[in-house]
Amino acid sequence: MQATNDLMKKIVSLSKRLGFVYQSGEIHGGLQAAWDYGPLGVELKKNITELWWHEMVRSRGDVVGVDTAIITHTDVWRSSGHLKNFHDPLVDCKKCHSRFRADHVEGSVCPNCGGELTEPRNFGLMFKTFMGPLEDEGSIVYLRPETCQPIFAQFQNIVTSTRRSLPFGIAQTGKAFRNEITVRNFIFRSREFEQMEMEYFVHPDQMDKWYKYWVQKRLDWYTDVLGIKKENLRLRPHEEKELAHYAAGCTDIEYRFPFAGGDGYGELEGIASRTDYDLTAQMEGSGKDLKILDKETGKKITPYVIETSGGVGRTFLMVLLDAYREEEIEGKTRVVLGLSKKLAPVKAAILPLSKKLSEQAREVEDLLRPHWPVLFDVTGSIGKRYRRNDEIGTPYCITFDFDSLEDRKVTIRDRDSLEQIRIEIDRLVEVMSRLMTSDMALGDWERQE
Ligand code: GAP
Repeated sequence: MQATNDLMKKIVSLSKRLGFVYQSGEIHGGLQAAWDYGPLGVELKKNITELWWHEMVRSRGDVVGVDTAIITHTDVWRSSGHLKNFHDPLVDCKKCHSRFRADHVEGSVCPNCGGELTEPRNFGLMFKTFMGPLEDEGSIVYLRPETCQPIFAQFQNIVTSTRRSLPFGIAQTGKAFRNEITVRNFIFRSREFEQMEMEYFVHPDQMDKWYKYWVQKRLDWYTDVLGIKKENLRLRPHEEKELAHYAAGCTDIEYRFPFAGGDGYGELEGIASRTDYDLTAQMEGSGKDLKILDKETGKKITPYVIETSGGVGRTFLMVLLDAYREEEIEGKTRVVLGLSKKLAPVKAAILPLSKKLSEQAREVEDLLRPHWPVLFDVTGSIGKRYRRNDEIGTPYCITFDFDSLEDRKVTIRDRDSLEQIRIEIDRLVEVMSRLMTSDMALGDWERQE
């Protein structure tokens, strides 16, 4: 456990030093559980959400996307039951005033000081604010605690404008806010976070089939698209007693995070079979008909829904943890972020061997920049520049040397195999295009050419 906690410390420190994640408001002492993504972090985060969007929306004909408001009509949350039920039971220590979730402590004794704990009280998890100039009861609104509920509230509009019939899905990525009582483990649990959610509407008879389909499909995304190591992931079906009263089944995709308690796994995403609970709740709350025509029977039915609900921050943290490695080379430690090419924030670094070659090497940058995020780095020894790029996960370093002036060739170095090939500048875009879509090591790729 010691070693794994060390890994977490390294990731937190690397995140700040290299510009992946900073604490929000750090110069003022820091705002707890709010995080700012830096220049590399924002690229990595966008890559995650864009890969998800491609997988879940653009590459399929049966899922459409939406982008709904964060400040949501209060009746959406009244109908869904959040206003009444979305809270945690809390206990306070009468002696040291520490606060705990009631289900996280045993008995009525404070785990910090041994003092007596209060009776549990409910603590609302939704962030409340006021809409408009008056701060009264009538102007209270809430920041959404999940991105899916506005999907149910917009169901009728989306069906009408897209002329959908079952089965089909509606997806959304975006911010969600929860006034969590305990926040810890860096970006794993925060009060402002981002979700990637998809609601797949099916005929009730088809629920089991689609539930199994989405559990497998979502697990495959982590391994096949993001390149996460299989042995660090697992599926955890919920036990009967864990299920919400409306849920027919729920399976979590979990990652072996270094900090998680118990058996060491923490939740990344939940796939839930939610029956017709949400649509029925929004129908009852609004008085509007959200039923849909079942083409087979010609009758109107309330579809069942399978939900896939994942967190961007948790995926981001997992990606960094899974990719981090240290290697000993000639007595020196090389730190590598072995990110998949699709995830890497920078795809190639252009490194002139000497400052004197900067102007000519810019030609290489100009060639590549329209196609990929690249970086031009001229400061420090070439070895240092290689190391810097290994640490941020850049798959390829392209060196422009004095010979390049004569033969118009550059050297491409592979981050993982450390192999190098020399290639004509005029072929660079074509070669990079093929490398970016191939899993092969640079040497194998060259031999195959
Ligand atoms: N619509 C269902 C729903 O929101 P959830 O299990 O509460 O389900 C789904 O949340 C996912 O959102 C989680 O698996 C996790 O990845 C992410 N998530 C939830 N609360 C979070 C928090 N406080 N900080 C970071 N991510 C969170």
